[in-house]
Amino acid sequence: MSDPQATDLLGLGKRYWLSVYRPRDVVLDHGKGARVWDTEGRDYVDFGAGIAVNALGHQDPDMVAALVDQAHKLWHASNVFYSEPPLRLAEEIVNAAPFAERVFLCNSGTEANEAAIKLVRKWATAQGRTPDKRVIVTFRGSFHGRTLAAVTATAQPKYQEGYEPLPGGFRYVEFNDVAALEEAFSHGDVAAVMLEPVQGEGGVMPAAAGFLAKVRELCDANDALMVLDEIQCGMGRTGTLFAHTHDGVTPDIVTLAKALGGGFPIGAMLVGPKVSEVMQFGAHGTTFGGNPMAAAVARVALRKLASPEVLLNVERQANDLRTGLAKLNTEYHLFSEVRGRGLMIGAVLDTAYKGRAGEILDIAAAHGLLVLQAGPDVLRFVPPLTITDEEVAEGLSRLDASLAEFVRLSAVA
Ligand SMILES: Cc1ncc(COP(=O)(O)O)c(C=O)c1O
Repeated sequence: MSDPQATDLLGLGKRYWLSVYRPRDVVLDHGKGARVWDTEGRDYVDFGAGIAVNALGHQDPDMVAALVDQAHKLWHASNVFYSEPPLRLAEEIVNAAPFAERVFLCNSGTEANEAAIKLVRKWATAQGRTPDKRVIVTFRGSFHGRTLAAVTATAQPKYQEGYEPLPGGFRYVEFNDVAALEEAFSHGDVAAVMLEPVQGEGGVMPAAAGFLAKVRELCDANDALMVLDEIQCGMGRTGTLFAHTHDGVTPDIVTLAKALGGGFPIGAMLVGPKVSEVMQFGAHGTTFGGNPMAAAVARVALRKLASPEVLLNVERQANDLRTGLAKLNTEYHLFSEVRGRGLMIGAVLDTAYKGRAGEILDIAAAHGLLVLQAGPDVLRFVPPLTITDEEVAEGLSRLDASLAEFVRLSAVA
């Protein structure tokens, strides 16, 4: 990075931030659609959308208008008083979600999952179940967030190590393994099963055909709740507003965040009839949840992300992106598999390139392409759902150049 001001800014991050992140040496300045520009004026095609957040791209005019309008009215009300945007948003979310009766608004995905975990426990308690009979089953490769409970639900040791003692009451099962799930139920102590219809951080791994239906069946047979974490895969990303719609199941609880605010922080827990009255006054809360600014923006995001126009674009661009990736693979032979659903696509690096996703991300950034990884072995593509034909084509062309350089460097090394 040659610009002295940008170098300065990077220095601030390195000096003052807690070192929990390792961002690429790029300081982003502004964006439009599926393009962003850094402080040096270089442009990037955005195949990452701020980790599946900017689903309407950057600077969506309707979201900007809603935010500005609300900024001139009321920034915050707390939950001691009502304000209009979260009231309207709650009605609109419930109307858009056939399974839901009520919603709890919060600020992030982790918080939505924390609320879901607490709700499962409250529900089990109300049923007279002793604490040892309130087990929540989660799946290897899952990611549910970073609070202590959410990180314990996350069945990946790398996120948990050093934070022991972890809260009890979780049991881990192989993803998509029906026999293992049946075994997990055989102890007679399961209160809920919690899972992502498409695992995100765990490598962009969709639930196998019929797996969600099996989860539902086992939950019903054992009087347990089905909790779906749609924080990454929900809000239109897979081509339907809710990812589980593909599987025709009815969950008891669904958590949302990321794209719900289109870039403004907000999370939500949606609850169905079985659990909608479990949490009563004082059972849970948050200062900022349902913040009017966030809710005003989320109302626009919800309306647009649920529209046929956006959902059809997901299908169209997903096809183009997959076709493009397959074509690149016939040339470079880097991927053993391309998987995912809708505009949530993972390209799995072949054995010879295992562990090197980060290197490809660095090279891509240098070629003007923002792309993500999902673990060390998978390139993750989660662009804005409004991405255009031209932006997909340009992004693929920059990926082509990046992969060519990666292969060349690998041959030299
Ligand atoms: C499936 C899933 N659940 C939960 C979370 C946590 O959300 P947040 O980072 O907003 O707390 C994430 C974040 O990546 C996620 O992908």
